[in-house]
Order: sequence, then structure tokens, then C-alpha cells
Amino acid sequence: MDSTAPEAVIDSRYVRACDLHLEEPELQPFCLVIFGGVGDLSQRKLLPTLSHLFGNRELVQNFSILGVGRQELDDASYRNFIRKALDKYSEEPVDNEAWNGFAGHVYYHSMDVQKDHGYAALRKKISGITIPDDEGNKNVIYYMAVPPLLTPIIVKMMKTHGLSGNAFAAKILVEKPFGRDRSSAVELNRILSDSFSDSRIYRIDHYLGKETLQNLIFFRFSNNIFEPLWNRRYIDNVQITVAESIGIEHRGAFYEQAGVVRDIVQNHIMQIIALVAMEPPVGFKADYVRDERVKVFRSFRPMDDSFIDEYTLQGQYGAGIVAGEEAIAYREEKNVAGDSVTPTFIAAKIYIDNWRWAEVPFYIRTGKRLAQRITNIVVQFKQPPLRLFGGSGDQLYPNILTLTIQPEEEISLKMGIKYPHENNKIYQADMKFNYNQNFGTKPHPAYERLILDCLKGDQTLFAREDGIDATWEMVDPMIKRWENNPNRNFPNYTAGTWGPAESDRLLEKEGRRWHTS
Ligand code: BG6
Repeated sequence: MDSTAPEAVIDSRYVRACDLHLEEPELQPFCLVIFGGVGDLSQRKLLPTLSHLFGNRELVQNFSILGVGRQELDDASYRNFIRKALDKYSEEPVDNEAWNGFAGHVYYHSMDVQKDHGYAALRKKISGITIPDDEGNKNVIYYMAVPPLLTPIIVKMMKTHGLSGNAFAAKILVEKPFGRDRSSAVELNRILSDSFSDSRIYRIDHYLGKETLQNLIFFRFSNNIFEPLWNRRYIDNVQITVAESIGIEHRGAFYEQAGVVRDIVQNHIMQIIALVAMEPPVGFKADYVRDERVKVFRSFRPMDDSFIDEYTLQGQYGAGIVAGEEAIAYREEKNVAGDSVTPTFIAAKIYIDNWRWAEVPFYIRTGKRLAQRITNIVVQFKQPPLRLFGGSGDQLYPNILTLTIQPEEEISLKMGIKYPHENNKIYQADMKFNYNQNFGTKPHPAYERLILDCLKGDQTLFAREDGIDATWEMVDPMIKRWENNPNRNFPNYTAGTWGPAESDRLLEKEGRRWHTS
């Protein structure tokens, strides 16, 4: 018998299926209540996503969407409002037939969410437009698309007025930022769990919904050639870049309060690190995967003040040219103080103190108004112990694996190849996979996946309470250190560049360099 035949492999006790059968649950009738129904997130992301998902009504017939906001609108004018938002923000032109199918399911309720008196009417409205499922449950999902300070207020009010109790089978979707430090996140979790069981709380980090980021798990755990190398013995360093060319746009007031660490590092970058560094899960059950992500967060080496001063740096953009267009300085943006010390850039070194990663630096870098929009993960492998190539034996490039998440998904591996006709010259060749070229299609937008997963009750791609806690524990000391010692030299980088020069020096002083620039 051929021992390499597939049956022989499958029969092996060392190679088995994980025995977890992933069922694809059918969608039940539901009502999605969007607090912040006329807000920016709703217009740009949620409503286009919902109309795309449910416009053709194949997924589910009986659903309703209820926008809640202060603006005085009725159902008909809310539908017009949405149509305008779709025309402006949808990636593809809106299909009229799909729109007509969708619009009839949309309603609006006007109220001041901070005042008691609107909630009884809200409850009545939800009850009236929610079609029960086969078991008689009214499945209601509350989406908190509101400024962070409002979430605890709304959740408490909902409890008082019986919107989160037994009246409905309710779930809640909470957008980031989840708190503004560890203690406010603990308090927010306490308020949420006072009204909802954990299996009904969905904490959104839209990066987890990015199909291109999920590919990291597929890439790592389906390609056995990389796994033996994926550790401190073979990896020299890992670099994570989340570079944005946009500025803060119209969000000055929010950004002044947040800054780059709360906006991107505590959530998106931490989740990327988790996917790069985690152990294989036992199977794709939500908590098996979330356990592994949280284990990474728990292994972060705490940063003391001297580490923060030596290995982290902040920046703020001054005026410059981005993609050929003039960009104003952060301090000139609307709702930003003229002497603001809010950072719009960070570079830092992070360690994960566990068996797999001890002493491997994870360099992170993110900022607004950088040279280009790119999110990628660069894994630089160690070099062989003896350099044999080049005129004086001085030529050698490290193997570099780059996983680009956006704007286009690409995986590339750099390797050394003999240069033609030269005796001892080495050439760095690139082996590439490109998502669009390969599949001829674009990845699904993150919100589509996340909303569907919430409807189906799958929490795999949502942050868990202990994970939120551990990530704040990691970034809190850095935020505090910076806020207590604000940078007086802001702005310290020109819009359209790769950030402050110290960012390069952070790696250069350790004999390394950024591989995205
Ligand atoms: C959001 C941040 O969470 O992510 C924004 O608040 C940032 O500041 C955005 O621009 C980036 O998301 P994406 O999907 O465009 O990379």
C-alpha cells in the first residue's frame, strides 16, 4: 500500500479532523435597532451594508431595521435619508429593485436617548415591528453606533424600561472605543453584563471582520511548512504597520480625546498581533479561538517608564503633501486645539513573553497622514550563520514574508536566488499571491460578516471581556506616560511621509529597518 495515499494520512492518529461540526444556522426574523441611526457610522458603513445584505431578501424574509436618533424624522423621510446615504457611500451603484425590497423594512424613532421619557414609546415601536420567530421569540439586536459616552447611559435606560429584560430575546453590538482606559472598560463591561449575558454581548473590532485578516489563520494553520518556523528560533522580528493616508477627517472632537493609541493600537493592532502570535485553536468554536487570542494579550511584557521612553515614540502631523494634494496640519483641523498634544502616530516595540515568542521584537507602527494607505505584517526570518555570497561574502538578504491586508490582499515571500551569469551574486526574488488576481473578486466588507455572525450567534470574531481588559492593561501605562509628559515638539512629522525620523531610528539602533516604506 502506498503510505502517502490520502487515506493513510487521514487514518493517522496524529492527523485528524477537529471533530467540531460547524453548523450554518438559519437566520431567524429579527429587528435591528440602530442607536445613532442618522450618524456617520450608520451612513457610511451600516446602512450600505444592511441594504446590500438584505436588499434581495434571500437571507431572511422577515426583518425590520429601526433607526433611532434625535433628528425629527418619520419612517418615509428616514428612508429618503438612507437612500441618499447609499447613493453617496455604497461601493456599487444601488440596485433599485433591491432598494425597494429593503426600504419597506426600515423604520425610524425620534428621541433623546439621554431622557427617560422616549423609552416606553421605543419599546412599543420595536414590539410592533418585530415579527416573532417560530418559537415566538422577538429577536432584537441593539447596535450602539453612538459616541462612546452614550453607550452606558442607553444601556442603563434600556434596563430600567424593560428593553433588555424578558420582553425581547435581545443582543447588543457595541462599537469601539470600548472605554477610554482599563477602569472605564471594566465599568462598561459591568453595566453591559448587568443587562445582557456575555453570550449576547458582541464587542466589535471591525478589523476582526476583515476577510483578509482572517486569512492569517488559514495561512498559518493550513500550511505546515511555516508552522515549524513560526517561533523565536527562526523569526528575527515581526513588523506590523497600519498606515493611513487620510487625516482625522471630520472627527476632530473625538480624536482630540482619543489619540492614536486608543483609536488603533488598543484594538486593531492588538487583534492583528493576536492572530500572528496565537497558538492553533482546538477548533473553530468561538471560545476556543478567543481563548488563544486572549492568551497572547496576557503574555505581553508590561512596559515600565524606562521601556516606554526608550522603545515607544509618538508623533503628530504637520502640513504636507499627501498623494499630490496639500494637507493641513493636525493642529489646523476643525475642533482641534491650536496647541494640541494629541498623538496621531506611534511606533513601538512590544514583547510577548511566552515560549514561542520570548525575545522576538514585535515592532508596531500606525499613523494618520502617512505616505500611503497600507496595512501589513512583515515577518523577517533569521539569517543563516555564514554568509557565502557576494564578492567578499557579504551578501545575504533575510527571508521576508509579507502579509498585506489592505488596500489589496497579497502574500509574498522574498528569497535569495542566484543572479544569472554572475558567479556569486545573489538576487532577492519575490513569490506572490494576490487575492484579486487569483479569485477575481473583492473580499467581503468587514461589517457584512460581523452583522451576519451576530445574527447567527457566532462570537468568534468579537472581542471578549477578558481580552479587552488585557489590552487596556498593556496600553494604559504608555498612554499615561505620554499624557503626563506631552511632546512639546509637535508637529514632528510632515504629512505624506512615514512619520517622525525617530521611528526609523527605533529599528536602526537594533540593526534593523522597516520593510514597508
Ligand atoms: C477606525 C478608526 O476604527 O478604523 C479610524 O477609528 C480609522 O480612525 C479606521 O481610520 C481604519 O479602518 P480601515 O478599515 O479603513 O483600515
